[in-house]
Amino acid sequence: MFGFFKKKKVDPRKELVAVLGERELPSFPAIIMQALAKLRHPDSAVRDVSHIIASDPGLSVRLLKTVNSAAFALRRKVDNVQQASVLLGKSRVESLLLSVAVKSALPNEPDFDTVHFWRTSARRAATARALAQLLHPATQAESFSAALLQDMAVPMLFQARKSEYKPVLEHHRNSEHCLTHLEQPEFGWDHTEVATWMAAEWSFPEVLACAIGGHHGDGLVEPIAPPAVKLVSSIRDPAGEEYHDEIVTTVSELYGVGTDAVVTVLTDGAEQGHQLARLFL
Ligand SMILES: [Fe+2]
Repeated sequence: MFGFFKKKKVDPRKELVAVLGERELPSFPAIIMQALAKLRHPDSAVRDVSHIIASDPGLSVRLLKTVNSAAFALRRKVDNVQQASVLLGKSRVESLLLSVAVKSALPNEPDFDTVHFWRTSARRAATARALAQLLHPATQAESFSAALLQDMAVPMLFQARKSEYKPVLEHHRNSEHCLTHLEQPEFGWDHTEVATWMAAEWSFPEVLACAIGGHHGDGLVEPIAPPAVKLVSSIRDPAGEEYHDEIVTTVSELYGVGTDAVVTVLTDGAEQGHQLARLFL
């Protein structure tokens, strides 16, 4: 159980049942569960996990393509899973496996724009990784995964409570309002809270769950997200520059980074996100 749940005496399973009703949270694919279990075993090495991943060609290809994408910014290309796993290390392999698992577990509702959702998520991920490199390099990997998965509750909520949730989502898309500000008065919860309950049920590492749960927060109350994850939450679509001004101003004022450097990160993030999105669609 995450520390911030213990303090607030929250039972994530009960909260999810109350919000999702009959719609159970989907399980992750068996091969990913097996790899995650091995990865989290204190006596196992990252090499042990690579054998499990390599036994599934689809998973291997997806992992290698993601690692080799521009968004991951490795200095050299890797062509086998063992090399990739050793290069990335346990925590980054875990984050990547979770990203692939969430993608396969989330529902595909016919009237939910899945393409728009994953393209936007990929743009946020690539941009967050690059912003983290500028602002707080130690959190690059978690910033990438948290930005990619920050809105993972939205497709679940859309499927489970479509008649109530769809109008709120449409209101958000046609206005400047933050989604949480529309969800809270309507439901008494928001997609960041639901995402932390999902993260608990899916046994995410606490640091990743915090980064996802705090993506719209003010940084004063737990869960707290790295700045890059919060900055990219203002990005609402896969293209366009309408979010640049807000992010450029915040990064320049708070961190003293030149505006040209931030604009370059944002422009590259959009391009890298576009490439990354192909792996998720
Ligand atoms: Fe969000």
